[in-house]
Amino acid sequence: MSQGTISLTWLGHATFALRSVAGKRLIIDPWVMGNPACPQELKQVEGVDILLCTHGHFDHIGDAVEIARRHKPKVVGIFELCHWMGRKGVENTFAMNKGGTVEIDGISVTMVHADHSCGILEDDGSIVYGGEGVGYVVRFENGFKLYHAGDTALFGDMKLIGELYRPDIALLPIGDLYTMSPREAAYALRLLGVKRVIPMHFGTFPALTGTPEALREAASDIEGLEVIALRPGQTINLP
Ligand code: NI
Ligand code: MN
Repeated sequence: MSQGTISLTWLGHATFALRSVAGKRLIIDPWVMGNPACPQELKQVEGVDILLCTHGHFDHIGDAVEIARRHKPKVVGIFELCHWMGRKGVENTFAMNKGGTVEIDGISVTMVHADHSCGILEDDGSIVYGGEGVGYVVRFENGFKLYHAGDTALFGDMKLIGELYRPDIALLPIGDLYTMSPREAAYALRLLGVKRVIPMHFGTFPALTGTPEALREAASDIEGLEVIALRPGQTINLP
């Protein structure tokens, strides 16, 4: 299908660092310093070309402003979240909305629906409107497509995401409480039609009870499904 290699490192929770076929460095939902799942030696993010934010909850943008100020990546997020980050000193924002696609450095990023809230907690304890939670379909230089669902409940239009974008791999939350549990994530896999999934957003806190084993069990009817259960800090090469 596709030539070249993409490397993907799970930094724990919903945070992923990727290196594209052409060597572009991406980070999705950067939360490292306060992330109890992120290995100590990976908390210092070295360099970033493209930074994607699915929504404004602290466990997704906890280090976004700091990393963006330091490394000056291109920052993608929904309009209101980009506006908020801009006021915090973040440059080079690509403010967009669901259904849109941007091309950045040869990589295409499509913002898709997620079913989740998006209030931003300010330092003074107030919550400001941050738009809505979203997911992304990232298409790399070689045509490989990765779907990061963000935080989300199950929704029927995952079927459309599957049909329209045909992701090669899905990163799905399974922790329960704030997102899908393994039961809903298994249903999501049927809608998406993907055969490879990396579970995320589980185990970070005791309340996030979903496990990859439970996902395997719930999705055992899906022929050829590969549940890739990473350890935080682990790197794999794709495809
Ligand atoms: Ni959230
Ligand atoms: Mn979250």
